[in-house]
Amino acid sequence: MAVRVRHHVNPLRPGLRSLSPARLPLCSGPQAPAVDVELGCADAQFLFQLAQKDPSAQYIGIEIRQAWVDDVNRRAADVGLPLCAVHAHINVDLPALFAGHRVRRFFINFPDPWFKRHQHNRRVVTPELARILVELLEPEGELFFQSDVWDLALDAMAVFESEPLLRNARSEWSFLVHSPYGVQSLREERVLSQGQPVWRMQYVLAGSQRAQQGGSASRRDLLPDPTSSPCPAMLG
Ligand SMILES: C[S@@+](CC[C@H](N)C(=O)[O-])C[C@H]1O[C@@H](n2cnc3c(N)ncnc32)[C@H](O)[C@@H]1O
Repeated sequence: MAVRVRHHVNPLRPGLRSLSPARLPLCSGPQAPAVDVELGCADAQFLFQLAQKDPSAQYIGIEIRQAWVDDVNRRAADVGLPLCAVHAHINVDLPALFAGHRVRRFFINFPDPWFKRHQHNRRVVTPELARILVELLEPEGELFFQSDVWDLALDAMAVFESEPLLRNARSEWSFLVHSPYGVQSLREERVLSQGQPVWRMQYVLAGSQRAQQGGSASRRDLLPDPTSSPCPAMLG
């Protein structure tokens, strides 16, 4: 059944900054499964596909629209995948949600662009968010961002490049053309089916083995994606 969801939610609305989500059902200890988190998951297609490929990890979607959260949790329970969505605010609730836990991968897939300049303060990627993600990542963890909006991707890259504890997995100010994950979010699927470009970037922690090895990107990830048309100047 189709879910009825409000089109956009203003994340600055006072009520949304005090959602106080319940603690996440995360395992802890050395044997605990890895935790992957999508920030702004909507229908969580990306996480469902990841969970199908590797059900040994735990998948968490953070979403500000309650209707999506309920829908994702219902579908995850139906298919028995280790996935749950949480009604929470990305820019407010992460430290409390993940207190005592570390995250293997944060995914920011196609965040709302908020095109008008006076609405840029509604965007999720800020220097404060970058610092929080750094603190929550596992030592060898990673942060992935993708968008079809060039200005938004460039603004996000400026934030991540300015965070001293992050390193671009490819090289400074470089886009990762190919998605390394073999799954697609709903928005990604739609954009690619229209032949539009997707701007992707992947960061690891400075000081991690991956940063010292020059990141995790394989040659295949760096090859131009035939379904997208990257800006040649940025691909070097
Ligand atoms: C454009 S949709 C992209 C959905 C999905 N990631 C995809 O790629 O198909 C952005 C999502 O982020 C959610 N969102 C926006 N700001 C948020 C915030 N501050 N906290 C939690 N979710 C947020 C929106 O409700 C929306 O579902």
